[in-house]
Amino acid sequence: MFAARGLLRALRSCSSAPSPRHKPSTKLSVRDALGSQNTNGERVKVQGWIRSVRSQKEVLFLHVNDGSSLENLQVVADSSFDSRELAFGSSVEVQGQLIKSPSKRQNVELKAEKIEVVGNCNAKTFPFKYKERHPLEYLRQYPHLRCRTNVLGSILRVRSEATAAIHSFFKDRGFVHIHTPIITSNDCEGAGELFQVEPSSKMKLPEENFFDVPAFLTVSGQLHLEVMSGAFTRVFTFGPTFRAENSQSRRHLAEFYMVEAEMSFIESLQDLMQVMEELFKSATMMVLSSCPEDVELCHKFIAPGQKIRTYAKKQLFNWGDDLHTEHEKYLVKHCGNIPVFVINYPLALKPFYMRDNEDGPQHTVAAVDLLVPGVGELFGGSLREERYHFLEQRLARSGLTEAYQWYLDLRRFGSVPHGGFGMGFERYLQCILGIDNIKDVIPFPRFTHSCLL
Ligand code: 4AD
Ligand code: MG
Repeated sequence: MFAARGLLRALRSCSSAPSPRHKPSTKLSVRDALGSQNTNGERVKVQGWIRSVRSQKEVLFLHVNDGSSLENLQVVADSSFDSRELAFGSSVEVQGQLIKSPSKRQNVELKAEKIEVVGNCNAKTFPFKYKERHPLEYLRQYPHLRCRTNVLGSILRVRSEATAAIHSFFKDRGFVHIHTPIITSNDCEGAGELFQVEPSSKMKLPEENFFDVPAFLTVSGQLHLEVMSGAFTRVFTFGPTFRAENSQSRRHLAEFYMVEAEMSFIESLQDLMQVMEELFKSATMMVLSSCPEDVELCHKFIAPGQKIRTYAKKQLFNWGDDLHTEHEKYLVKHCGNIPVFVINYPLALKPFYMRDNEDGPQHTVAAVDLLVPGVGELFGGSLREERYHFLEQRLARSGLTEAYQWYLDLRRFGSVPHGGFGMGFERYLQCILGIDNIKDVIPFPRFTHSCLL
């Protein structure tokens, strides 16, 4: 075992990189090559996949992409390099000189000295065709290849940047990141949408559970976060979440990512809504500044195609009814197509952990949803019932007293007013990018009747 200082010293002193005698070509990503200030013939090596080939009498133009940016690097080569192998989709390694491009279309280009085809691609059988803009539904049939298209490339880069932005939002505000478990023995939402976890092969004693109790994939990390907020005050988690919802809808997945936060010592929905709003705005600003061209591609080519749905007024609801997708859409539209907070839901519709508002005949709980245009519910949150006797009664009414003794303990030992929320990460991406179907904002979508790869 290293002491902390010893570990630091050891890390500084060991280096596996030998100091080179002669300088080999610098290996650059396409993004770094495009942004390079050094365009006086610096020798570089770039690796990637061919996005287009244009062969002229004396020159050959290749566009190469390695996923580091939406923009391709233009490779200019002598026509003697021309070969059938240099086809759309093949992987290549190009060495040459980075120079200022004479064309206005790009600042930099790579004057090839050596081109090596790493892997051939048969353009006839490759499912994507050069210059064709394939619809997202078509691309969905190829989860193993669609990431090589411009549009999926942009979406997944935004996804990666948004993940980093969300982590930095919480870090900057002093939240502690908690890894809540994937396998759990509780059903936080009580909606019966659980996937049960069992060993695939029969155990020696088939009548026994592997964990001694029934175990499930998590539907929310909230209850575990509540445990942690009782020690760290402000905590968050951001991980996969599972729901066995029998839905093929364009906003439901069986496996999705949820951003969840829990805060001790907050006493009003207003405090909660402020953090929700700040998270949305701050993450979006960061994404817009880190990859504006990827966001723009989605807005330019995808969002305009979105169908605008209209809802008749008669679809409005009665007090006590749950809000369905069409109600959510109606409310958002009614408010001028902007994000809308809906607060104080009927107690009878909500899970046991939400705080009772004790408000007479309507009897509501301090719950809040944020509804957004095009998607509907993006966030769900609430103040939690921190009062022992209220919670005890709610649990008893639902027959959960025995299973939730540990949860009652949190109210027995140093209980504090607290609250939190969960934001569906894929729905967030749909919202900021204007993407109609949730299956297009996750690398490998899982939903009823489909678990490809
Ligand atoms: O509203 P939900 O069910 O809230 C909870 O699970 C709370 N325990 C969270 C908390 O307070 N810590 O889910 C939160 C959000 C929804 O608003 C929605 O955006 C997303 O998760 N969501 C889904 N996203 C994709 N596919 C599904 N099947 C989803 N179900 C919920
Ligand atoms: Mg909800």
